[in-house]
Amino acid sequence: MTDKKPKILVTGRLPVLILNRLGEKCDVESNQFDRPMMDAVLRRSIADKEGLISMITDSVDSDLMDRAPRLRVISQMAVGFNNIDVRAATARGIPVTNTPGVLTDATAELAFSLLLAVARRVVEGDKMVREGRFQHWAPFLFLGTEVSGKTLGIVGMGRIGKAVAKRAGGFSMKVLYNNPSRLDPAEEEQLGAARRELGELLAEADFVSLHVPLTDSTRHLIGRDEFSLMKKTSFLVNTSRGPVVDEKELVEALRRGDIAGAGLDVYENEPLLEPGLAELDNVVLLPHVGSGTVETRTRMAEMAAESLLAALGGEAPSRTINPEVFRR
Ligand code: GLV
Repeated sequence: MTDKKPKILVTGRLPVLILNRLGEKCDVESNQFDRPMMDAVLRRSIADKEGLISMITDSVDSDLMDRAPRLRVISQMAVGFNNIDVRAATARGIPVTNTPGVLTDATAELAFSLLLAVARRVVEGDKMVREGRFQHWAPFLFLGTEVSGKTLGIVGMGRIGKAVAKRAGGFSMKVLYNNPSRLDPAEEEQLGAARRELGELLAEADFVSLHVPLTDSTRHLIGRDEFSLMKKTSFLVNTSRGPVVDEKELVEALRRGDIAGAGLDVYENEPLLEPGLAELDNVVLLPHVGSGTVETRTRMAEMAAESLLAALGGEAPSRTINPEVFRR
């Protein structure tokens, strides 16, 4: 780095210690509030910046990059990066980094939380007790669906999908997975997971959990046809990205009883919900908090800061999504 500190923009709130660490090496402009930076502010502030730490709520498109002639790195504080036009960054020689690995367990935990919550009607029960409607134990009161011994279908068997599979072992579940490539047979055996075509998985699973990135080929991966393949007693869990599911069709499927329920952390038009979704009792809805633990968010911020500093220092960060920019 030169004597003059490079200017960087941090669009989300970071732990103070990490901001201070960045401040030792960079001239930092950062969002102090726990909400997304307004798009107009982002577009204005990026003009003189050499580094950007972005959040999933930012639209990092070619227009933004055109406004940032000095930009040398985009460091996304998330594993998903569908909000970034990586091709446009590559064309400009800008490395894009993300934070894989550190949020695997937190996200798998949340997928399992949703699975258990919707199967055992945790949120409905909580509401009943709070509203003073719990009067006595009864044999048929709030019966849910047992999880132990059931079949879990994991769509997308990357780091998070595998972490969900491991947790399923604790519930003696049978694990099926769908993934473009087959896992190594030894790993399949270790995870107790068998590969299936998507249609087969949907037809066999009692719980379907989504762990694919959002790409052109996974947008609306689960829609009307897919819901019709699922068992009427099955549940859908989505902690990946909202648009992987056709949310309008999901509401219809839940209303028609094509599936028994859903646990969702992400939405097609976040933070908006498809009309009708919030009125359904058989859904558990969370505000995109898959990686939302103190430990994980701290590690994500650290990793995003490290990658940004590495790139500004002329090194190739190890979690670069488009490493070809360093091979020129
Ligand atoms: C969160 O959604 C992430 O992609 O890290």
